[in-house]
Amino acid sequence: MNEHRDVLFARLKQIRSQLKNMSINDLFTLNPKRFDEFSTSLDDMILDYSKVHVNSDVMTTLFKLAKVCDVEEKRDAMYRGDKINITENRAVLHIALRNKPNKPIYVDNRDIMQDVQEGLEKMQKFANGIRDGKIVSSSGEAFTDIVNIGIGGSHLGPAMVTQSLKPFHDGPNVHFVSNIDSSHITDTLSTLDASKTLVLIASKTFTTIETMTNAKTAMKWMSKKVGEQKAGKHFAAISTALEKTKDFGISEDRVFGYWDWVGGRYSIWSSIGLGVMIAIGTENFAEFLDGAYEMDQHFKNTPIEQNMPVILGLIGIWHRNICEYPTRAILPYDQRLSSFPSYIQQLDMESNGKSISSSGESLYEKTGAIVWGDAGTNSQHSFFQLLHQGSQIVPCEFMLGVNKSENDMKEHNDLLIANCLAQSQALMAGRRIDEVIRVLEKRGVSKEESIRLAPHRQFNGNRPSSTLLYKKLDPKTLGKIIALYEHRVFVEGIIWGVDSFDQWGVELGKELATEMLTHVQDTHKKKEYTNKDMDSSSAGLLNAISSWQE
Ligand code: F6P
Repeated sequence: MNEHRDVLFARLKQIRSQLKNMSINDLFTLNPKRFDEFSTSLDDMILDYSKVHVNSDVMTTLFKLAKVCDVEEKRDAMYRGDKINITENRAVLHIALRNKPNKPIYVDNRDIMQDVQEGLEKMQKFANGIRDGKIVSSSGEAFTDIVNIGIGGSHLGPAMVTQSLKPFHDGPNVHFVSNIDSSHITDTLSTLDASKTLVLIASKTFTTIETMTNAKTAMKWMSKKVGEQKAGKHFAAISTALEKTKDFGISEDRVFGYWDWVGGRYSIWSSIGLGVMIAIGTENFAEFLDGAYEMDQHFKNTPIEQNMPVILGLIGIWHRNICEYPTRAILPYDQRLSSFPSYIQQLDMESNGKSISSSGESLYEKTGAIVWGDAGTNSQHSFFQLLHQGSQIVPCEFMLGVNKSENDMKEHNDLLIANCLAQSQALMAGRRIDEVIRVLEKRGVSKEESIRLAPHRQFNGNRPSSTLLYKKLDPKTLGKIIALYEHRVFVEGIIWGVDSFDQWGVELGKELATEMLTHVQDTHKKKEYTNKDMDSSSAGLLNAISSWQE
């Protein structure tokens, strides 16, 4: 137990109860320079947290909290290659994948930067070969379509980045299959010409049941279309399990390896990004890595008081542990980032959804918040009602680009920007009941009717939000944004004292699914289950499934 940490948590709770007497709006009135004081920047990116319900006392105490929890020392340990993933005894080095080749990083006394460079060059050679039509399909044609088969970190990253960087695509189309549901692979493959399609099987372990089942189905489809002997020319594998890729029958030159010190949800920078590289080209991919490198340098070298990931993480702690908000929303005002919230769900909730400390004790403080969200302005017309007037407060993280690739569509962009700024303002300012009555009466509504309607139309306000403002969504900016969120997760994990880099919580369900599969298969033989076989819910559902099977 970290006693200093507990003292600071108690102090923060005390400040919070005093601060409750003052709204965020009041804090702006008291301090006209609030934006300057509570925002930080890196190049063409600003994190504005002035609409979060904090004051300088809160921030100073949060910075002390980061110090007593050794955030800086632990960050340095990660960058050094120490084995900070203690349940798997692994280093955590996604930062190495965007590091410069001349800056050594050691794992087990060996500089890994040469491996990283070789891996990147192999990817580049292959991506260029596909893009310029030198690596061809079994029919001698250039590949027009790539299908990435993977799940979790082997899917969400490539899918989100591909979607986000659409204006930079000048290579083949990239499609994604993740779900074991037969609909996913059927709907994807049915649109494609197999003779010009390349399938990437992406799996760190090369054992994940969804991916391996989809991969076998894709292989069958391809063999049927182009012939068994030629199907191999349409496959490549991305994995750390090189023996298993060999057993699957993928030739060595088509296997893109990476390393156990890259976590699945941190792997978009590795060969897992191959589909992205094929779509946007090697130079744009290098920019993407560069953006992340810049954020890594910022995280490593900037004092915590101006350090963007540290501040974002500390605000996360403030909201989760001190204000006790159970969820938070990520709201990109950028349609191309509409899958960013799903990506962050894995990154954040798989990393910090833990209740045991690194040393194996039960944690009494709450950890990872439930992260959710969707693109603005669509979400304004769905769940924003709850954000504005619901009985729970949900801290919002707005994301906004100043410029769009569609430079000639300023009308759209001005409206998008105005909506984003207006939402954070409305959440904070709210609308008092007397103001509502005044507005209604001005519109000619009777006094009696105005008083009746007013409670429904008033907003309490005082709902916190932050805004991440960036110049334009390009590969470099996207690299920076993802790395920002990765390091934020790290900061929160250190303060909670969890191992953010394992994911044992997904294992039990996987094990039970294997057992359950036998029962599901038996439903085809019309086996009847009772509560002697298993709980009556599962038995009842299996029997209903059995009776409805076509
Ligand atoms: O579901 C857990 C998980 O292990 C994730 O952490 C990972 O990203 C995903 O499964 C896919 O794993 P793999 O890349 O080994 O197929």
